Parts: sequence; structure tokens; C-alpha cells
Amino acid sequence: MAEKHVLLVEDEAPLREAVAEQLADRGFHVEQAASGEQAITRLGEFAFDIVITDLRLGGGADGTQVLEEARALYPDIIGIIITGFGTVKDAVEAIKRGASDFIQKPFQFDELLHIISSALEQRRLRAENAYLRRQLEERYRFEGIVGKSKVMKELFELLETVAQTSSTILVTGETGTGKELVARAIHHNSPRRAQRFVAINCGAIPETLLEAELFGHVRGAFTGAVATRAGRFEEAHRGTLFMDEVGTMPPALQMKLLRVIQGREVQRLGDTGVVKIDVRIIAATNNDLTRMVAEGAFREDLYYRLNVIPVHMPPLRDRKEDIPLLVQHFLQRFGEGLARDRDAAARAGGNVTDPNPEPRIPNPELSIAQDALRHLMSHSWPGNVRELENSLERAVALTGGRRQIEVKDLPPTVQAAGASIAPIDAPIPEEGFDLPGYVERLEREVIARALEKTGGNKGAAAKLLNLKRTTLVEKLKRLERPDVDP
Ligand SMILES: Nc1ncnc2c1ncn2[C@@H]1O[C@H](COP(=O)(O)OP(=O)(O)OP(=O)(O)O)[C@@H](O)[C@H]1O
Ligand SMILES: [Mg+2]
Repeated sequence: MAEKHVLLVEDEAPLREAVAEQLADRGFHVEQAASGEQAITRLGEFAFDIVITDLRLGGGADGTQVLEEARALYPDIIGIIITGFGTVKDAVEAIKRGASDFIQKPFQFDELLHIISSALEQRRLRAENAYLRRQLEERYRFEGIVGKSKVMKELFELLETVAQTSSTILVTGETGTGKELVARAIHHNSPRRAQRFVAINCGAIPETLLEAELFGHVRGAFTGAVATRAGRFEEAHRGTLFMDEVGTMPPALQMKLLRVIQGREVQRLGDTGVVKIDVRIIAATNNDLTRMVAEGAFREDLYYRLNVIPVHMPPLRDRKEDIPLLVQHFLQRFGEGLARDRDAAARAGGNVTDPNPEPRIPNPELSIAQDALRHLMSHSWPGNVRELENSLERAVALTGGRRQIEVKDLPPTVQAAGASIAPIDAPIPEEGFDLPGYVERLEREVIARALEKTGGNKGAAAKLLNLKRTTLVEKLKRLERPDVDP
């Protein structure tokens, strides 16, 4: 932590000097003022981080005025009030006007130190949250897709380019990595945005119905076809057709799809004529299509027709530096949701069913405690961004009236992620055990210890761990935990 500058305002010289000395011992840079006037003059000359002031300063300006002046000049300054016996009411008043905290005479120095460090921590969090929010507004997003990792920034560039074309796109990636989000973003940034985005989940529709869904049918084409219907391809004419879980498509249909893509025309089931279509296809899958091709489960020619522009969504565990920003993004969204719920409740007027209503949140700006964020960054997120989103939604619900998410609000598996790497000596818990996360933590910790032992010498650390140096460097790259500091 960089050295912090403190202005200490106290008219009792012995107390002032004693506190100043102890603060200096702890690495603070302290200046003293014996009166309110002196303090206010000094504040005009120098940007202190912290002002600690007695409330009663014997004549002239009192602590409240010092604080007011300080906050007017430096909105982010930390103000701490020292009160005498019986003046707590005034201290509370001061806090309402922006003091961070107060301490009552006589006090132990450690109490003061504790107040200072928690105020500093709070300010750091505030600054960080504000910083992340600004980033959200500025750069790191494309149509609601958030990310600041190198891969995500590259993805944004790619998306901007491909959105302008009509080329077929194949989006691959594990569940919850944002494949559908990407498909929609492409459509909404393409010249086709005024036309429809039609989504069909090939995995959710029974095989026997999928064909009719895709291509449409005429009346009487099969039992139950009581009317003529256009298929999804026709619905998406001049727009975009999103074919989700394309890897589940049965072989016979794969062939028909191939013909449609090649010929750019569809034939409704039972119809003799064809309909010309102009459709941009975005397919998505969380299967490994190359392997399915090798195993003969997916047509190779169709694969190449779909994979014109491959877009791969990396798993969240490989881009942990996106987590703080995603957290901020979701908290902002859930916070807005809370505000809407509250307003709706207020409008419903008096219709209170909750016997123990939480105190209303004046401004539901949600934040997250740093140690909770650390847990989120240690978890391996098998469900990727969706799992993160759900965990935060759950956490927000559990905070009740609190505005800050704490470790205890996180799902048990995520809480376990931040735990120490002590060898497992307990049975596997009911809610399961996150093995990949555990292995990663273990690796991280052991490597950190080896590096500590060798004073950061990677070659020596690799030797200690029976690894090749290049392997260690690779692991470090993968495990690297990016800082969220500006
Ligand atoms: N980079 C991101 N920024 C913001 N939200 C994201 C991001 N990635 C995913 N999400 C959110 O996570 C959730 C899951 O995303 P989406 O449905 O696109 O995943 P998917 O890859 O299609 O998953 P599945 O394979 O299970 O269908 C959505 O609510 C989406 O908005
Ligand atoms: Mg999906």
C-alpha cells in the first residue's frame, strides 16, 4: 500500500502527539493541526487521504466544519471523528454528513487503526467498483457480451467484422459460454437486423418433427398436418436462422440441411415446388464436431459448410480475468431488478404481505466483498458464465437488505473453491466436490510455494517440482490470476 497522508486535528496536544507518533510508526505520513482553522488552511494546500479530527476543538471551527471543508475539496477523503464522552449524537450527525466513522475518547490506538484500515478498504472497493463500471460502459463489451481478456477482445473484433457479411458461422464452446448471446449479437449488428432472428434448438425437438419445423409442410403431408405451414427457414427469410445444438441432428436430416444450404431453397414437406430463401445461418454446438466427423456421426461435407467462420467460446476457467467485470455486469443488472421490484411494491401501496419486510434499500447499488470475489475467481465454473450468473442471482437474493455480497451468500461449491488446499480427509459432501477446481488450487498453491522457496527462480522451482521449465511457465500462464487494479 502506498504511504497514506493523514491530517490529525486535535486541540489536546499530548493526545495528538501520542496518536501522531503511533500512526507514524505504522507507516502513515502524519501532519498535525491544533485548531479547526489551521486544519482548514492546510486542507486547502494539500490533498490528504485521511482526516482525523476531534469534534470539539475549543473555540473557532469545530470538527464538523473541518470535515465539511475536507469533503468539499476531496469527495473521496476519509473522515474520522474523535468524540468526547457524551457526544455520540453529534458523531452520528457527522456520519450522516459524510464522515466514515467515529471513535470515542478514551480509545485504544488499535481501535483507531482498525477504523482506518476498514475505511481504506471500503474506499478501495468503491474505487474499484467505479472503475469496473466505467470499463463496462466504455470498452469491454459488444452488445451485452462482456469481457476484457485477450480472447474476448479478439472475439469482439471478429464479431464486428463477420456481422457485416452473410457467411455461415459455427459457434462452438461448452455449455453456458455465451454461444446464443454471440449469435444474437451478430444478428443485431448485421445489415439483417431489421429482419427476424429465428432460433431453433435441434436438440429439443423430436426427430420426427424437426424436419417439418425446419422446412415447413403442406396440409395433409403427414398425420396431424392439418394446415400448411412455413418452416423456420422461411420465417428467417432475409434474417438470421440460429440452429442450436446442431450436433444432435440425425443423419438423414443432416443431408437435407446440406442441400438447403447449397441450393438456398427449401421444399415444404409434401410440396412439389421450392421456395427461394435468403438466410444467414449461425449454427452452435457444444459437441466436438471434428471428433463426431471422425467417428462418422456428423457429415463431413455439412461440417465444412457450417464451419465457414468458426467462432470458439473459451470456457470461463481459461479467462478468469473476465470474472470481475462479469460480476459487475450481473450485479448491475440484478440491482436494477431489485429497484424495479421495490418500485413496483411501492406502487402496489400498502399491500404488504411480508410480515418482516427488509428495510428498503435506498439505492440498490450492489457490490461484492473482495474475499467473495476471490472465491469466484478460484472456482472452476463447469457451467461457465451461466453458472456464474445463477450463483450471483442466488447470492443477491440471499443478501436481503445488505448491499454487499459476502462469501456466505455464495453457493457451497463456490465457497469450497476458496478453501485451503489441505488434503481431503472428509467424505465427498452431498452437494458434490469440485475436482477440477481442487486440482487447480492445488497446482496454484504448490507452484506458489515452490517459487517462494526459490525466490522466484522458475528454473529452480521447476526442478523442485519435477517439471520441465517450459511446463511450469505454461502452467503459470494458465493459472495467472490477473489483477483487477487499474
Ligand atoms: N460474455 C458474456 N457477457 C455477459 N453475459 C454472458 C456472457 N456469456 C454468457 N453470458 C450469459 O450467460 C448465460 C448463458 O449464455 P448462453 O445461453 O449464450 O450460453 P450457451 O453457450 O448458448 O449455453 P448452452 O450450450 O448451454 O446453450 C446467458 O444468460 C448469457 O446472457
Ligand atoms: Mg445455448
